[in-house]
Amino acid sequence: MKDLRGKVVVITGAGSGIGRALAIELAAQGARLALSDVAPDGLDRTTAACAELGAEVRGYPLDVTDMAAVQAHATQVRADFGGADLVVNNAGVNLLATVIEARYEDVRWVLDVNFWGVVHGTRAFLPLLVAARGHLVNISSMYGLTTAPAQTAYNAAKFAVRGFTEAVWQEMQVGGVPVTVSCVYPGNVRTDIFTSARTGRGLGYDGIRERFAQEAAVSAEAAARAILRGIRRNQMRIIVGADARRVDLSSRLLGTLYLRLRARRARAEASRLRLAAMRDRLAAHRVRSSGHRRP
Ligand SMILES: NC(=O)c1ccc[n+]([C@@H]2O[C@H](COP(=O)([O-])OP(=O)(O)OC[C@H]3O[C@@H](n4cnc5c(N)ncnc54)[C@H](O)[C@@H]3O)[C@@H](O)[C@H]2O)c1
Repeated sequence: MKDLRGKVVVITGAGSGIGRALAIELAAQGARLALSDVAPDGLDRTTAACAELGAEVRGYPLDVTDMAAVQAHATQVRADFGGADLVVNNAGVNLLATVIEARYEDVRWVLDVNFWGVVHGTRAFLPLLVAARGHLVNISSMYGLTTAPAQTAYNAAKFAVRGFTEAVWQEMQVGGVPVTVSCVYPGNVRTDIFTSARTGRGLGYDGIRERFAQEAAVSAEAAARAILRGIRRNQMRIIVGADARRVDLSSRLLGTLYLRLRARRARAEASRLRLAAMRDRLAAHRVRSSGHRRP
């Protein structure tokens, strides 16, 4: 898809981060926007920003885990815009927890939003995309290319998005269906995903959260521009950021050795975080006990 001017673009999870940045960039390029999010405040802010740029834009409250609601959303978008040219299944959440420490309901939440949300969006909008000879974009992650400890649910969901989307790409080829497909693999991007992430019951996850936020060198705006570049070039795999490119190359070149090296690095990091947490607890204890001393 070369020129997005006048095209109808559907984006889920558009109230924050990459979804919002994509919407604003597309508004500036003259696209017509059907934006949705489960959080109405963020969605309102994004639609207002797009409207300010002169774009035709509508905001729809939508929970992507609700299959019937996503189907109804596709019907509504067809009624409001006449169809859809580009659909970006972007809504996503994160959970920092090892397999033992994760609560079952949190694992389900990640799979429901990150995987089933993508399946619902793809199935509901595919007929509109076929009619428009459009483009489907599903957002995976570099954690759909390699694994990381304390990311079991997120890894499972993002690998599933990769498998699902690349198989859809093949089905379009085999069936001669005129829909192009991209799967996006961002590295760490500075967004709210780290702050809104749920955590397991263990200690030390706040440290990991902070590290994620610190390591995120790419802004949401830069990620959005890279994704749109990939869409224009009709790339099947859109890899965003130097960290994701490194992960892609190393995991393919080194295979399981890469997993071992990552595990070793994570072990060193975990002991550093445990030591830091212990130091914090000791410091807090010292402050409490000095507060109890008589003047
Ligand atoms: N930020 C990163 O480092 C990074 C890296 C790789 C992949 N991703 C992926 O990029 C996508 C966007 O994430 P982001 O970083 O912009 O995060 P974000 O938290 O800034 O935005 C995610 C949006 O999804 C919405 N959302 C959550 N649950 C929803 C639901 N059930 N229904 C509808 N909307 C829902 C949130 O309200 C939020 O507005 C996600 O799929 C995420 O997994 C992000």
